[in-house]
Amino acid sequence: MEDSSLFPISRRDLLIAGASSAAATAVPATAADPAPVETPVVSRVTLDVNGTSRTLEVDTRTTLLDALREHLHLTGTKKGCDQGQCGACTVLVNGRRVVSCLSLAVMNAGARVTTIEGLGTPTSLHPMQAAFIRHDGYQCGYCTPGQICSAVGVLDEIRRGVPSHASQDITAQPLLTAAELRERMSGNLCRCGAYSNIVDAITEVAGART
Ligand code: FES
Ligand code: FES
Repeated sequence: MEDSSLFPISRRDLLIAGASSAAATAVPATAADPAPVETPVVSRVTLDVNGTSRTLEVDTRTTLLDALREHLHLTGTKKGCDQGQCGACTVLVNGRRVVSCLSLAVMNAGARVTTIEGLGTPTSLHPMQAAFIRHDGYQCGYCTPGQICSAVGVLDEIRRGVPSHASQDITAQPLLTAAELRERMSGNLCRCGAYSNIVDAITEVAGART
């Protein structure tokens, strides 16, 4: 039996007040509903891929990597992290290395894209491909297409005098040191740890060119 002189509000009133307050602060059921699915915007894009003009109809959100692998079936370019951290997807766009998972296909309209399939063929290897084989610059090979495309881009950067974080003098022609090559190739990860042999392969090609 409750003594109303000590508790002017009955337990029943308190429970009703608590329930009303909880209902007032509850998240409306509609807030958890999934966002409406938007219709993809499709765009036509033409790329020069390995010397051949290719026109694709792609969702504008399609990365260059997915356009190459899923639309053109050029699976030599690998998808590792899909967020710009491993370098497995590196290709050359207008001769410059690009991580294709961070570039949209539509951003590259009209560009000249070179993948590992376009660098050389089994019977006519690109010098960098041949050097990787000679120096054992790979084990499982998953990172290798990206490493080779990146290495070709690195030598072009050095030839054009682009400095790196490892350059002692950013106004001078970069030197072909192992430190320079390691710094420039640092965006290309190799879980097999073939780094030393990769540097040897690049050094050989660079030496052959100078
Ligand atoms: Fe593009 Fe890893 S897949 S950087
Ligand atoms: Fe296996 Fe580089 S060769 S990850």
